[in-house]
Amino acid sequence: DSIPTRICCCTADNCVHPNASNPIEFSFSNDFKFSTATAAYQIEGGAFEDGKAPSIWDIYTHKYGGIANNDTGDIACDSYHLWKTDVELLKATKVHHYRFSLSWSRLLPENDVMKPNKKALEYYHNLLDALLKANIEPVVTIFHWDLPQSIMEEGGFLDSGISDKFAAYAKFVFLHFGNKIKKWITINEPFSIVKYSYCGEIVVHAPGEFKKHCDWMIYRAGHNLLLSHMKAAKIYKKHFKSHQNGELGITISGTWFYPETNSPEDIEASENGFQFSWGWWAHPIFGKGGDYPAVMKEKIDKASKEKMFRTISRLPKFTEKEKRDLMGSADFLGINYYRSVTAKARNESDYDYLNKYVMHMDAGITPGYFDNWELIDWIWYTPDGLRKLLNKFKFEYGDIALVITENGIMDIEGEGLEDKNRIRYLRAHLSAISQASSIDNVNVKGYTLWSLMDNFEWTAGYKTKFGLHHVDFTSPNRTRTPKSSVAFYRNIIENNKVIG
Ligand code: NOJ
Repeated sequence: DSIPTRICCCTADNCVHPNASNPIEFSFSNDFKFSTATAAYQIEGGAFEDGKAPSIWDIYTHKYGGIANNDTGDIACDSYHLWKTDVELLKATKVHHYRFSLSWSRLLPENDVMKPNKKALEYYHNLLDALLKANIEPVVTIFHWDLPQSIMEEGGFLDSGISDKFAAYAKFVFLHFGNKIKKWITINEPFSIVKYSYCGEIVVHAPGEFKKHCDWMIYRAGHNLLLSHMKAAKIYKKHFKSHQNGELGITISGTWFYPETNSPEDIEASENGFQFSWGWWAHPIFGKGGDYPAVMKEKIDKASKEKMFRTISRLPKFTEKEKRDLMGSADFLGINYYRSVTAKARNESDYDYLNKYVMHMDAGITPGYFDNWELIDWIWYTPDGLRKLLNKFKFEYGDIALVITENGIMDIEGEGLEDKNRIRYLRAHLSAISQASSIDNVNVKGYTLWSLMDNFEWTAGYKTKFGLHHVDFTSPNRTRTPKSSVAFYRNIIENNKVIG
């Protein structure tokens, strides 16, 4: 095989330079786990079958018309029926783990743990059994955005009662599946949930009705998301962990923020960017004190009072007991990384052209990009940002276990099955991870490529394709075909190294 063109992935002094004359092999430790991922609403279909109740996405896709081509997840990849095929794809890819999510409204259509949906239990048990038989370890997300509509109608994550409802649902799944699932993720990307579902200005996720007042709603929803995670983790630890012998984490997301210039203001802006996106969730769980990052409390309190004339801060407060329970409430931190941005200190007059998120205003930053970055759709090609991010987690929270629970890129239009772009992206990001672990000694346990197959990419519908496998959404049997990246990824997994 010809040696793939090397691309620059690293700028730190101790990196191997990309112009070195021999191909550079970046290896992984023997217990490093390779994985791929999906989520229930994005692949399952069977949206109204066998007693499943509607989730906010079932309602939103049908009602609001805000989705590309008016696509819905009614059938999606039809994994509700084609799960056996999915397991075959996973086997052929040779992944060690498979990350997927459970559908709350399928399992508990009446929101009553005494009245579970037997068909739903059967569906997930079948999938789990097939995975275990194939020696593929399930990594299961309890909640990946498809909130039951009935719970949304009671206030969703704005309702302080939701954390108990979430905890009851979590207890139910630990009880039913805990002998088969040893790696749990409570919540996927709380940051995206608050940003797109409770605030959305450019990207609007279900329920699609919260554009006003998001200056306080995002923090309220975020608070209840953290409490939901914490209560589920507490139950797991108290009733299940010791005999089920599993681990539980949370998956968070964001970008790496490069300071736009070397000015102290921009360096501070990039730090604030980190704290207002990753730190928001990671600090209460892994930082000291079980609370929000100090800078978030300070800045939001100040902005709430001075700019918005509110008498109390928009950022809710944890009780001392909640802080104690939050601290250490995860065995590992899941990281979803796709790209970096730049941060500069915000001027009052800045129009935030990327987005107008409250978070950026409160953090006092304006995001941007460097001219030499390559942009593919919304993803800037910035693998070195991932290495920096991993180092930052170690710096902030010590030697905690990190797992890349998502990383990936969409097809370039017209690429077909020859997804060179994904191969290039995968190679660069895996090289960066290998260096973070072998050179910088960051504790990264595994890597997950998003996604096993093309699927329902939320508001982008089926148009944006992240899959290792192509899915023909016009064929009744949703034919899956491997793209070139499958063989490339399999090769990395089998050899436990990547040629950088
Ligand atoms: C984040 C989400 O967890 C996943 O659902 C989504 O499809 C990917 N990133 C790609 O946008």
